[in-house]
Amino acid sequence: MNKIGIIGAMELEVEQLKAELSESRIVKKAGMEFHEGVLNGASVVVVRCGIGKVNAALCVQILADLFQVTHVINTGVAGSLNAKLDIGDILISQDALHHDVDVTIFGYRPGEVPQMGFREFQADQRLAALAKDACERVNPDVNVVLGRVVSGDQFISSKEVKERLISQFHGDCAEMEGASIAHGAYLNGIPFVIIRAISDKADDSAEMDYPTFEAAAARHSAALVKELAGKI
Ligand code: ADE
Repeated sequence: MNKIGIIGAMELEVEQLKAELSESRIVKKAGMEFHEGVLNGASVVVVRCGIGKVNAALCVQILADLFQVTHVINTGVAGSLNAKLDIGDILISQDALHHDVDVTIFGYRPGEVPQMGFREFQADQRLAALAKDACERVNPDVNVVLGRVVSGDQFISSKEVKERLISQFHGDCAEMEGASIAHGAYLNGIPFVIIRAISDKADDSAEMDYPTFEAAAARHSAALVKELAGKI
């Protein structure tokens, strides 16, 4: 039977989903609260992992070990790296990579974790297609794009860094957990998808835009995740 792990980095990103769970129980582990229950007819575990790649990776492993999840969805907000993605739009992952990994001195590509044999973690194509359909149903006015998530333990808020993430990695959005979730899901053989609503442009305006648009962006992705959970 399917059990879907739903991970958000911040409370804002998961509070709406937690509020809609029926038959929920809470398990605490590694400083995180795992809310197990039924969402839109699906068995789910909703959890706020905290910000950054280490929190995210730990969280996936707990979902795999303790809850035996069969799918992982990461929901949240991100900074746009693509001119086609404006604030409020949604990006669904085709793949994800770590933009802050650099072992180029030994011949690896920027972002490539040594000895993995590849750099991009591929999202599950079926989940990504279902997410796009779900988005078109619940957020018909929202522009939705399939693309690449680039993750690092940094909030991107400068034009120079943004341009490097575009030229070096062809990223469509930047955030701080997706690649770790993808990496952990890959190691455990669990299909995943990342769904990110754009809260800022990851440039010099990001600091101003982020607090303004964060809540609406989180609401759009939560609505999508609820719809998607019922279709997996
Ligand atoms: N999450 C939302 N906006 C972001 C940004 N600009 N950089 C990293 N993570 C983000």
